[in-house]
Amino acid sequence: METEIIRIKKDKGEGLSPEDLKNIEHAGEIIKKGGLVAFPTETVYGLGGNALEPESSKKIYAAKGRPSDNPLIVHICDFKDVYEIARDVPEEAVKLAEVFWPGPLTMILKKKEIVPNETTGGLDTVAIRFPSDIVARELIRASGGFVAAPSANISGRPSPTEVKYVIEDMSGRIGAIIDGGEGEIGIESTIVDLTVNPPVVLRPGFITNEMIGSVLGEGIETDRAIIDADSGLKPKAPGMKYRHYAPKGELVIVEGKDEEVLSRINELLKEDRASGFKTGVICCDENSDRYDADAIKLSGKKGDTKEAAHRLYSILRSFDDENVEKIYSEGFDREGFGAAIMNRLLKAAGHKIINLNQVERGRK
Ligand code: TXA
Ligand code: MG
Repeated sequence: METEIIRIKKDKGEGLSPEDLKNIEHAGEIIKKGGLVAFPTETVYGLGGNALEPESSKKIYAAKGRPSDNPLIVHICDFKDVYEIARDVPEEAVKLAEVFWPGPLTMILKKKEIVPNETTGGLDTVAIRFPSDIVARELIRASGGFVAAPSANISGRPSPTEVKYVIEDMSGRIGAIIDGGEGEIGIESTIVDLTVNPPVVLRPGFITNEMIGSVLGEGIETDRAIIDADSGLKPKAPGMKYRHYAPKGELVIVEGKDEEVLSRINELLKEDRASGFKTGVICCDENSDRYDADAIKLSGKKGDTKEAAHRLYSILRSFDDENVEKIYSEGFDREGFGAAIMNRLLKAAGHKIINLNQVERGRK
């Protein structure tokens, strides 16, 4: 299959030109006819198909190589469309939508008949997201209002934050790719389950538990299975159980006091280099010249979680491009948005982490 590349001409901050709108209209026709289109969102690129057509959802699973028990998020472009696909919509959903939609928050609600089981992986709930990216919104409108879209990567790879990665993974597999520049946030939306009381976060993201809690007036917890990988619990978002985002090389996170992390990583790098491995490091800008590794990738200024999230997936992919075999990452503070970064980084590392603080405490 030949994949059309559609380039958005206008800087998104300035709105869309008539030509852009015409091109998006054309992409919407592809989805209406049962085809697939990859498109930008404020988080990561999505791989869109008609959410109300079982055949379209099947095509999405096939294009990604994704297990079909892993449900898709239905993207909408108007809040009232929630009532078309969800039943028993709780007051909490309305409150959260007022504050965070359009934006990087996905809500799990009870589904209506109209949403096929193929889209929800057989669940009787549906994940709904109203993205803020204007290209995404126009495409959803042009596609009929309900676009099922997982991240536009081959299953298991990091979600694509730049169009070049979408082209790498999806060329020849889908009808079109819309190039709308880089996703601002860089990691996937927060998922909150509103079918339980109190609501639970199933995937951390830019909208933090504190932000959700302050709107709902109650403390919000994250699914235990996500926080504690050794708990043996099954994550409530089926996708969170899969190995994900992992670079081909071995990634280990080192956490602790700054200077101790630096010296431990340098020790490990020395051993790996002596064994002939190509080495890499993920560190903050301030430490850029303090590691002795073949590839050094900067996550931004220390403590700048927004920048770190924005860069994370392209950093992970770049290690593959450069055939790096042993990778070490400095840990990130788990407060606020940092929780989402550490969640993705831990998955990428297969939960391999050296916590120097714990080692310290253990010794005492
Ligand atoms: O930011 C995002 O959410 C991006 C962009 C494209 O919108 N999409 C995205 O989709 O990350 P995907 O398919 O890569 O991740 C969807 C996650 C999976 O972990 C899936 O298991 C979970 O959402 N999910 C979907 N429907 C669910 C449901 N009904 N109940 C529980 N989890 C669900
Ligand atoms: Mg994904």
